[in-house]
Amino acid sequence: MIRFGSLELKSNLFLSPLAGYTNLPFRLAVREVGGLDLATTDLVNARSLLEKNPKAFKLIETCSADRPLAVQLFGSVPEEMRDAALMLEARGISSIDINMGCPVKKVCRVGGGSAMMTELDKTAALVRGMVDAVKIPVTAKMRLGWDDENITAPDLARALEDAGAAAIFVHGRTREQGFAGTVNLLGIRKVVEAVRHIPVIGNGDVITPQAAKKMFDETGCAGVSIGRGAFYNPWIFLHARHFMETGELLPEPSFDERVRVMCRHLNLMVEVFGEEHGCRMFRKVAPWYAKRFGPSSVFNKRVVLVSSRAEFHEILQAYIRWREQFLDEHGDLQPRYCPGPMVASFMREPASATRESIPVPKGPVEVW
Ligand SMILES: Cc1cc2nc3c(=O)[nH]c(=O)nc-3n(C[C@H](O)[C@H](O)[C@H](O)COP(=O)(O)O)c2cc1C
Repeated sequence: MIRFGSLELKSNLFLSPLAGYTNLPFRLAVREVGGLDLATTDLVNARSLLEKNPKAFKLIETCSADRPLAVQLFGSVPEEMRDAALMLEARGISSIDINMGCPVKKVCRVGGGSAMMTELDKTAALVRGMVDAVKIPVTAKMRLGWDDENITAPDLARALEDAGAAAIFVHGRTREQGFAGTVNLLGIRKVVEAVRHIPVIGNGDVITPQAAKKMFDETGCAGVSIGRGAFYNPWIFLHARHFMETGELLPEPSFDERVRVMCRHLNLMVEVFGEEHGCRMFRKVAPWYAKRFGPSSVFNKRVVLVSSRAEFHEILQAYIRWREQFLDEHGDLQPRYCPGPMVASFMREPASATRESIPVPKGPVEVW
């Protein structure tokens, strides 16, 4: 369906890296729901991997059900990036993605992330060194540029294609924009037009199947990558694929189905991180599921303090009983309590796009 060099993929929808969230349990939970093929890890510091830092190794933890997997690296020392890529290839990783779009000071200060967008030749040389060293595809993820006056993504994408990059992921915002404002579909289109052969994957604010289709239609991109949308809605890959294949919108998952996947996600967190740590990490995950539950203050207030699986289930059962007051005689949420429809920034009027931007999850980094 879509190829990154020698890697053939079954889906042109991708899970974007979300530091602190796109860990093994989340990737497995989403994969089980369906519609996704290549997922990417959180960004990992190349040097930390080479130094065998246990935290970096935890970030690349994977298993046979978590294939194909890309690891996203950041760093600006060509030899370190090359050696980290070699190490990952030897561990059976399918693809290496290079972070060029992280606006966080910690990453830019050392020349990685968004800083790479402004140094074209140096960045192309770094990519070439990695491409020459490994057989697996090397891809890059960037923003449109540093700011509106410096839209570098088209030139950078072309230079990276010449350096051997197998695909480009582009978030349709500038570094200066952060997460504010509208995703610029025309900006993504310019990147699509700048490269000759390699696939360009569009990214930013895709939270519904209709938004995925619009991004494909208006940018000509070969794939769409979804981050926060998968958080609200792990069904987005399956539903977007179905919508693009048939034109039909599948019904929103029921409350019971959302609860089932949330519990599965928690179980995977406990398997991978242990009960205490897994539950602690789940404190920031569960409220995202709850965003589509209807009234959920009672659940959110308690779940952010959860420390064991038994406690989680007690909180959930108490919430399910409390939620009954909002149901009709068929057990469905009464219409006035249903959460409003989700609409991507680039599908709204500009004024409301600014007012109602998608929440940005808290993470180990303050700004992405
Ligand atoms: C909490 C958080 C963490 C992120 N971590 C990464 C990361 O590790 N690497 C990266 O390239 N982008 C990262 N991003 C950016 C996303 O991959 C994506 O480009 C951005 O969220 C826009 O897509 P979305 O609207 O589908 O979420 C992060 C974004 C958020 C909100």
